[in-house]
Amino acid sequence: MFVTFEGVDWSGKSTQAGLLADWLTEQGRTVLRTREPGGTPVAEAVRDVVLHGHDMSAWAEAALYAAARADHVALAIRPTLELGDDVVCDRYIDSSVAYQGIARGLGKERVLELNLTVTEGLLPDRTFLVLLDPEHARRRGAGRPDRIEREGEGFMRLVDEAFRSLAAENPERIVTVDGSAPRHEIAKEVREHVRALL
Ligand code: TYD
Repeated sequence: MFVTFEGVDWSGKSTQAGLLADWLTEQGRTVLRTREPGGTPVAEAVRDVVLHGHDMSAWAEAALYAAARADHVALAIRPTLELGDDVVCDRYIDSSVAYQGIARGLGKERVLELNLTVTEGLLPDRTFLVLLDPEHARRRGAGRPDRIEREGEGFMRLVDEAFRSLAAENPERIVTVDGSAPRHEIAKEVREHVRALL
């Protein structure tokens, strides 16, 4: 099973990805818990460039996320799924469509097409979208913001709207959860959805 978590920065999706991976492991399953951009040495190096490097053009940014994803799928995600194990990934293609395709304005279809090409069409079995008002999410933010987080609130609002429209367009794959609920309640709701897939 391939499960992804999506949401605006500081929505709490990483916590939920970790809790689901722990629960699946307790059920006796073998789980790769991973994140994007990242998950392979090349993808981690790209992460550094894209999040902590110089300003860059929007297509360079989209292409770098796609390059990291291509490596991650080929070397980690697909081999794990082929062994029959589970993958729980913090962010995936929907992030590129929302951030680069919609919020940066590159075009949702073009960014989706690029990403389906580089992953040879690999989409998750289920995606949990952790919804949280961007203003609420920003107040949770701590530490030094990365290059994307520095875009500010207007950008995060566009990303939030983009994720909501992706969920409305893909109701069979994307499940929305209320990110303002207590974390154990969100985790329970996620587990119940996943239990039905096992
Ligand atoms: P994330 O790992 O969630 O950040 P952090 O570890 O700081 O919580 O994601 C890194 C940033 O990259 C985040 O602002 C979203 C952005 N991003 C994109 O713009 N496009 C993508 O395809 C991905 C995977 C992430």
